[in-house]
Amino acid sequence: MKGRVKARESHRIQVVLDQRVEHNYSSDFRSDQVAIRADEVYGELQPCMDEINNLIGLSQVKKFIREIYAWLKVCQKRRSAGLTVDQQVLHMVFTGNPGTGKTTVARIFGRLFKEMEVLSTGHLVEVERADLVGEYIGHTAQKTREHVQKALGGILFIDEAYSLARGGEKDFGKEAIDTLVKAMEDHKNDFVLILAGYPAEMDRFIRSNPGLPSRFPIKLNFPDFTIQELIAIGEQMLKERQYRLSVPAREKLKGYLLKEIGRGWNDFGNARHVRNVLEQAIRNQAVRLLHSPYPTRDELMILRAEDFQFTPEGSSKSHTYSWYT
Ligand SMILES: Nc1ncnc2c1ncn2[C@@H]1O[C@H](COP(=O)(O)OP(=O)(O)OP(=O)(O)O)[C@@H](O)[C@H]1O
Ligand SMILES: [Mg+2]
Repeated sequence: MKGRVKARESHRIQVVLDQRVEHNYSSDFRSDQVAIRADEVYGELQPCMDEINNLIGLSQVKKFIREIYAWLKVCQKRRSAGLTVDQQVLHMVFTGNPGTGKTTVARIFGRLFKEMEVLSTGHLVEVERADLVGEYIGHTAQKTREHVQKALGGILFIDEAYSLARGGEKDFGKEAIDTLVKAMEDHKNDFVLILAGYPAEMDRFIRSNPGLPSRFPIKLNFPDFTIQELIAIGEQMLKERQYRLSVPAREKLKGYLLKEIGRGWNDFGNARHVRNVLEQAIRNQAVRLLHSPYPTRDELMILRAEDFQFTPEGSSKSHTYSWYT
């Protein structure tokens, strides 16, 4: 098959648990380092590559993907030339604040690794502490093993993974970590484990467990989006939904987001917050147009400044009951 990576020719890529080389992607790359190039043809990987490429920002993630792609391609060529094929650990740590794209990227990685034949199914099982930690001795190991089983062939994504270390030695979280480490040995190359969470907490968590740093050699940082990136994300989301911003609406949204960024809260919500604000504005536009007998196509598409209503505290004001913050 043209353009397809045949990693499974050697029974999939070996996941080596004790590899010492650390690939640290946490330092920021300049955004002009285009990672996935338009002049490269990715064959069946193209839809996933396009999806990654269409994400705003995230240059480190894009660069990493191209490295993995290049490495798989070269592995193929080395194998054909009768050379030994390198082994890589693909378990990863994602650090970043809420709404910076961690789950979105993990989901795309799953599909991409399936296309690359690194994983057999590429599905994503997303869990958090409560899904893994039980209430009595043995319960945690059982719950954790069940989720590992569900994730086989795909990705096990543990959000706020640092919370497994909460409570110290006597806490059942430790049992979950031990079970995961064992599962990584038992099922070596059958799944990819991604641990995600706030940067500082994740660093502390990984360093506090001597067995962990070498098992998670890939660290991808998801930085907070800049104001330009947040606006670009918003405009992309609207374009997909066939809406657009009027010039004053864009300015109003920008002013609001700048204020939110200025507060310096790491739970501000980044791209997710932008999505919530836009969905509220879409509802407000609908209410505005409700009694307009013949709205034009343009009117149906445009969100005006008046559709963005923000309370003095900063949160988006709702006409109706809202779960969002
Ligand atoms: N780089 C991006 N470009 C465009 N949209 C993005 C980007 N990153 C995230 N989004 C959008 O923002 C929303 C939130 O992203 P996502 O759920 O992946 O964040 P997260 O980091 O997993 O957050 P949390 O830590 O709270 O789980 C989604 O709707 C997603 O499509
Ligand atoms: Mg998430």
